[in-house]
Amino acid sequence: MASNCNLASVLGVFLIVTLFHNPITVAGQKKSGAALFTFGDSNFDAGNKQTLTQANVPQGFWPYGKSRDDPNGKFSDGLIAPDFLARFMGIPNEIPPALKPNVNISHGASFAVADATLLGAPVESVIDSESTSEEIQSNKAANWNDDFIKKSVFMIYVGANDYLNFTKNNPNADASAQQAFVTSVTNKLKNDISLLYSSGASKFVIQTLAPLGCLPIVRQDYSTGMDQCYEPLNNLAKQHNEKIGPMLNEMARTASGFQFTVFDFYNVILRRTQRNLNYRFFVTNSSCCGVGTHDAYGCGLPNVHSKLCEYQRSYLFFDGRHNTEKAQEMFAHLLIGADTNVIC
Ligand SMILES: *[C@@H]1O[C@H](CO)[C@@H](O)[C@H](O)[C@H]1NC(C)=O
Ligand SMILES: *[C@@H]1O[C@H](CO)[C@@H](O)[C@H](O)[C@H]1NC(C)=O
Ligand SMILES: *[C@@H]1O[C@H](CO)[C@@H](O)[C@H](O)[C@H]1NC(C)=O
Repeated sequence: MASNCNLASVLGVFLIVTLFHNPITVAGQKKSGAALFTFGDSNFDAGNKQTLTQANVPQGFWPYGKSRDDPNGKFSDGLIAPDFLARFMGIPNEIPPALKPNVNISHGASFAVADATLLGAPVESVIDSESTSEEIQSNKAANWNDDFIKKSVFMIYVGANDYLNFTKNNPNADASAQQAFVTSVTNKLKNDISLLYSSGASKFVIQTLAPLGCLPIVRQDYSTGMDQCYEPLNNLAKQHNEKIGPMLNEMARTASGFQFTVFDFYNVILRRTQRNLNYRFFVTNSSCCGVGTHDAYGCGLPNVHSKLCEYQRSYLFFDGRHNTEKAQEMFAHLLIGADTNVIC
């Protein structure tokens, strides 16, 4: 495994040199007055889905939020990475869900909604461009001026649902069908980022897709053997991720003031899966909460007797596809530090 680690280091250094063309400094911005805005799917959903469905989501119920006695619509046993990142940035509150009435959005907001896709229905599509732009416009007068938006960090994680859906519907897609799909997904992502940029955003943190084939729910649904990930989904995620750097570099060349950082989430998860003990995770192939061969289904559902693990901090995944608070805090440290830990 040591050689893998070295390879990862080399690739990591390469990534930093080539992609972090215009590195944004998230670190050291304490009390700068800037904000953190998040976009994408359930990983960054701070309660928007819960608001949209009038509380009718499992994430509003125990054991979600268990580690903080607060099931509040987040897909974790506690806080999520943007909350920790916000704290490290000197932001006094957790990042609130933008769609919830009467939240204080003076330091940012989550526009992420569970089930968001890049190519799917607009209601839950990512940066559901129009309504988000409108929201940003209407808030600008009240809360955020142009300079504030410009200084703020826009963080995006989306695409996983597109590939999960594609793989389910096209189990035998050949290489060219896969490539075509990856191209449409990444083009849409580029388009959405451009829309945010035209709304005045200029600092972007783009998180690569996790090794989707290693999510407990995927291992369970595809009945992978013991400790095996479902490689077709990992391959799609890899193809997607490979396009992100060049795409953003091109945007930085053509859009003035465009700054970005790529968070290599794929390898962050893969390393914790492969060398779990180095990171003090004892279980990475099954979820802490849920039922099934990998305890990956039904966490929080009233009609499922959800099995909850005894010690959440031993697990990389809380439910079938979302990480525990402990892992989320690690991600935020990597994001804020962008230090050697990011690489190996
Ligand atoms: C929102 O939170 C900020 C920072 O905590 C605070 O200064 C501001 O007064 C709050 N705004 C409202 C309307 O409560
Ligand atoms: C999932 O795939 C089906 C079939 O290709 C498509 O009709 C549907 O819109 C997709 N849903 C999402 C959310 O992407
Ligand atoms: C998860 O990994 C552990 C340790 O390698 C193994 O004992 C266990 O059987 C695996 N669980 C599943 C569901 O594959």
